[in-house]
Amino acid sequence: MAAMHNPAGLSPIVAGAWRLAEWQWTPQQRLAWIEGNLDIGVTSFDHADIYGGYSVESLFGEALALRPALRSRMQLVSKCGIQLVTPSRPGHQVKHYDTSATHVRASVEHSLRALRTDHLDLLLIHRPDALQDYDELAEVFATLRREGKVRNVGVSNFAPHQLAPLHRRLPLATHQVELSPPQRSALHDGVLDQCQDLGLRPMIWSPLAGGRIFTAQDEAACRLRATLESLAAERGISVTTLVIAWVLRHPSQPLPILGSRRIEVAQDALAALPLRLDAQTWWQIWTAASGREVP
Ligand SMILES: NC(=O)c1ccc[n+]([C@@H]2O[C@H](COP(=O)([O-])OP(=O)(O)OC[C@H]3O[C@@H](n4cnc5c(N)ncnc54)[C@H](OP(=O)(O)O)[C@@H]3O)[C@@H](O)[C@H]2O)c1
Repeated sequence: MAAMHNPAGLSPIVAGAWRLAEWQWTPQQRLAWIEGNLDIGVTSFDHADIYGGYSVESLFGEALALRPALRSRMQLVSKCGIQLVTPSRPGHQVKHYDTSATHVRASVEHSLRALRTDHLDLLLIHRPDALQDYDELAEVFATLRREGKVRNVGVSNFAPHQLAPLHRRLPLATHQVELSPPQRSALHDGVLDQCQDLGLRPMIWSPLAGGRIFTAQDEAACRLRATLESLAAERGISVTTLVIAWVLRHPSQPLPILGSRRIEVAQDALAALPLRLDAQTWWQIWTAASGREVP
């Protein structure tokens, strides 16, 4: 196995800030969420310029400003490249991607101001851009690193053939991808094989399928939930712990990003770290999720 590199010194469980604006919290409540995560060892926070319609980074930065010393205990991740149509960006006529050096630099500068920090520990290109110029992107990444504004770089939601040309020009730290029992594409489309091959530990978004593991009512979801509940009960653990253990079992050594507002969900996820599911349990969950046996 390739030596796996921990991107940007991220914590083994990461806190995702995507939903932060929806929670409609006061700055003090946001600070409590940040501190609650830090106190249990969830020290990395995942952002993107566009979260909350370009508002989440500022909401986070406002809370961080109440206790600026916390910055030295955390790692901040952000992303750029998606351009939303929204009143705060009147120049955007169509939702599109922009991975030009000019936009990447402008987005990083904006994220630094909003988060009230002088550097990002990790910057990711949010989605692959059909117009991405690999030389230009590698060059702006290298310049931002030289300037100390960005410590590590990576991508998100890329196909293997899109990650490889960039990684050849400049070593990437990670690939952020979706994985959960209901969303298994990365297991079979070459994405996680490539992570293993290159020694990139993937960051995993929506590991609890955005909560649908617990709430969805379609037949497939109910079948999966029944299996998860029975396997979790046999082991005396929660369904959250079991699902995170399922994600962690992949040999690419994934780093799950949780999107919950509740610290107890992070605690349940941390409880999965010492577990190692046996292969049959892992495939039992795969089978319940897919509704079929392996061939
Ligand atoms: N790179 C990308 O393209 C991309 C895309 C999407 C997300 N992300 C990142 O990944 C992070 C995580 O994504 P996510 O929020 O979808 O992750 P997730 O952890 O799979 O889902 C979080 C959601 O599940 C709910 N939930 C958790 N436990 C529950 C339970 N027992 N019963 C009912 N609901 C429950 C949470 O609600 P409560 O708050 O009430 O617990 C929350 O709304 C995001 O914050 C973002 O940083 C990246």
